Amino acid sequence: MDVSSLFLKPKGSAYFDSAATSLTTLPVLQKMQEYYENYRANIHRGAHHFTRQASEEYEQVYEKLAKFFHASSQEFVSVRNTTEAINAVALGMEWKEGDEVVVTEAEHHSNLLPWLRLKSKGVKIRIWEADNVGKLWPEKLAPLVSKKTRLVAFTACSNVLGTKIPVKELAKTAKEASSGKALVLVDAAQYVGHHPVDVREWPVEFLAFSGHKCFGPTGIGVLFHDENAPLQPWFVGGGTIREASLDSYTLLEHRERFEAGTPAIAEWIGLGAALDTITKIGYSNIEAHDKQLVESMLKAFQGQPHNNVQLYGPVNAEDKSCALFAFNVRNLPHHETAVMLDQLGFAMRSGHHCAMPLTKKLGVEGTVRASLHLYNTAEEVEKFGQALKQVSLLA
Ligand SMILES: Cc1ncc(COP(=O)(O)O)c(C=O)c1O
Repeated sequence: MDVSSLFLKPKGSAYFDSAATSLTTLPVLQKMQEYYENYRANIHRGAHHFTRQASEEYEQVYEKLAKFFHASSQEFVSVRNTTEAINAVALGMEWKEGDEVVVTEAEHHSNLLPWLRLKSKGVKIRIWEADNVGKLWPEKLAPLVSKKTRLVAFTACSNVLGTKIPVKELAKTAKEASSGKALVLVDAAQYVGHHPVDVREWPVEFLAFSGHKCFGPTGIGVLFHDENAPLQPWFVGGGTIREASLDSYTLLEHRERFEAGTPAIAEWIGLGAALDTITKIGYSNIEAHDKQLVESMLKAFQGQPHNNVQLYGPVNAEDKSCALFAFNVRNLPHHETAVMLDQLGFAMRSGHHCAMPLTKKLGVEGTVRASLHLYNTAEEVEKFGQALKQVSLLA
């Protein structure tokens, strides 16, 4: 299925930086423009028809999320991004001295720092090791979990290595090893744009992702929060209360208590359109395209002369969650490699990718990261293989 024409692709270069942010589609922009042009108003405030239409469009997105992730529409909270969603959980759970959190060494800083900060409250952070290609094993998790474990947090796909993670098995291990006590948080920032999620089947209590990594707008993210998992609002204010006096207040139920102040209305509605795009294309087509990209990228790396290119992470297609590759050209600093590839028509990121502990584990200061998505083509991959050869032979 060729869907590359659906996406707004910047001209002049192949876009290989989708793990930082994906491209989007015209319907996403049109949906946001429609809000600004036709019914721009604040939501849940007042009785006029613009506010009613805006509220209706806004509410519909919760219903879409509920269908998408197999949960109740009350269990989704609008936030700015994955980072805010994870911080919201760290700030909203009630911690006591001696509580434990288990987190992996393969995390983006956004799923590490919020937990490290809890050390000041006497919470013990246990680090769960990944293997040298970023795989997470239940056998490594189980001994770290006890009845003291309040939360186990891990990524559904590494943003450095693109390694496939057995989320269901790991979530099950977390539950069994803690006698059902530990809650599970999954960072799905690199996952939702590529694979379907059933939060009940995994099962997880918290799931975080960003709209901008799954074809939606920037500035919008989602926290899935199982309604049975206790969580306090991290902010309070307008929109969250049932009643307020100069003395006290009572909060609304469920998600409404979590969304203080005017949310990112246009972006939330735009996110709904991005979910529609995924539904229309179908995850099976996205996964099939990813598989082709993974296989052809692996061939492009294997075709490099004299072992000039070091590829990190899995080297077999079955262990990749998506077409995301970290690499270095021998004797060439990562930033220089990225600049040279940019000049040859490939936009990709270089650095530690906000995952310093994992980058250090790879024994380097940084890597170049090629991350591809639905709109990338076999032709682009072939040209990338040639460009990489050109750069590595110059080094
Ligand atoms: C795995 C992972 N988690 C969290 C984040 C943070 O996402 P955001 O910057 O949208 O909050 C990223 C961003 O690259 C990521 O790749």
